[in-house]
Amino acid sequence: MAQLWGGRFTKETDQLVYNFNASISFDRRLYAQDIKGSIAHVMMLARQGILTEEEEEQILGGLQGILNDVQSGKLEITEEYEDIHSFVEAALISRIGDAGKKLHTGRSRNDQVALDMKLYIRDEIEALDTLIQELLLAVLAVMKENVDTYMPGFTHLQKAQPITLSHHMGAYFEMFKRDHERLRDIYRRMNTCPLGSGALAGTTYPLDRMYTAKLLGFDGPALNSMDGVSDRDYLIELLSALSMVMMHLSRFSEEVILWNSNEYQFVEIDDAYSTGSSIMPQKKNPDIAELVRGKTGRVYGALQALLTTMKGIPLAYNKDMQEDKEWVFDAVDTVKGCIALFTGMLKTMEFRKDRMEESAKQGFTNATDAADYLVNHGVAFRDAHGIVGQLVLLCIEKGMSMNDLPLSEYQAVCPVFEEDIYEAVSLKTCVDKRITTGAPGRDAMCEMIAACQAYMDAY
Ligand code: ARG
Repeated sequence: MAQLWGGRFTKETDQLVYNFNASISFDRRLYAQDIKGSIAHVMMLARQGILTEEEEEQILGGLQGILNDVQSGKLEITEEYEDIHSFVEAALISRIGDAGKKLHTGRSRNDQVALDMKLYIRDEIEALDTLIQELLLAVLAVMKENVDTYMPGFTHLQKAQPITLSHHMGAYFEMFKRDHERLRDIYRRMNTCPLGSGALAGTTYPLDRMYTAKLLGFDGPALNSMDGVSDRDYLIELLSALSMVMMHLSRFSEEVILWNSNEYQFVEIDDAYSTGSSIMPQKKNPDIAELVRGKTGRVYGALQALLTTMKGIPLAYNKDMQEDKEWVFDAVDTVKGCIALFTGMLKTMEFRKDRMEESAKQGFTNATDAADYLVNHGVAFRDAHGIVGQLVLLCIEKGMSMNDLPLSEYQAVCPVFEEDIYEAVSLKTCVDKRITTGAPGRDAMCEMIAACQAYMDAY
């Protein structure tokens, strides 16, 4: 047990209490951020004349040495310290002596930990954003290659109208695009520096908070010291944004699992991204997609947990807030892993264009277009709907599709039909006639792909 705060105590902390209270087992991952924050703090203290230049030099040298040694594995972060802040300070004092004892001047672990988490989250947002960029590029590649790959579009998991694979992928592009924007938005809003908030009420030293904020790449200092130490909104926002990423990945995974099934065979997941069964030799399972779908619950759980932890906390810092870390770390790790794995799976997946097109031809996906044909020949839509409904029934009885039904049968139900009905209900026509913005028609889709490409160019 090595603590920073022994002075006021007459008894040793109970070992179980110590263990319960300690956070070093998980906040050790913040060591680089903790040192970076200390470096900025010390530079500011020296600039303000609170530390001498010599002290500054000694402390900065010491901190840099600790950073290098932890990174190279020469210095091990041991669990005899309560948290990462105590560890760094103790290591500094043991290396440089008395000057090290001045590091914590004008600072509390409360503003320190708030800073560390913000620095960490900023880095992780960048990393997540790069992963989302790769995912978007993979989705866009499938879009570009499949402008003419026809497939059924579904509602209620029933075949509805023909679309293209390009169009279907375009929906996911929009989802992940919004995820990217949400992350940028969180970054922008959270980018204020807690340092200088002290324990809760600022400090009596003439700190230059603007300077530290600038050194650390923040837009400015947090404007209320009590909020500065106890704001965890950005973590909740992040968990919410990550939950949304997982929801999107999970829906996509569900479709991959369905499409990869023996019944659909719309896609074949690459061997490198599939797993086998220990008993059934024929099996090739979509475990990666299933795990991504499954891990969604874990990330939602983190969001619920932190929302609940924060709901009853009076101002300002309370130890409850230490509970933010494990949830956030786990969620960040999980989402990063899921995006990377999913992207790899998508890039190597084979799309069975023949199966998709065959499926689109079945199931009357062109029924709406047959009704539209009648509307274009002067029949009111509601009447046209009824007429085509009768034709569908007829086709089902005869085991035929609308493309094969003889013209005489069409005309027996409604004399408006002519030979050109076959052209009107062909897959190509059904898709290419849908040219409004956002629709699957070739022209609209090509425009959309160009817009997506421009978005990626400016990413
Ligand atoms: N481990 C603590 C946390 O994560 C650091 C802040 C401790 N502050 C305190 N006053 N006990 O929140």
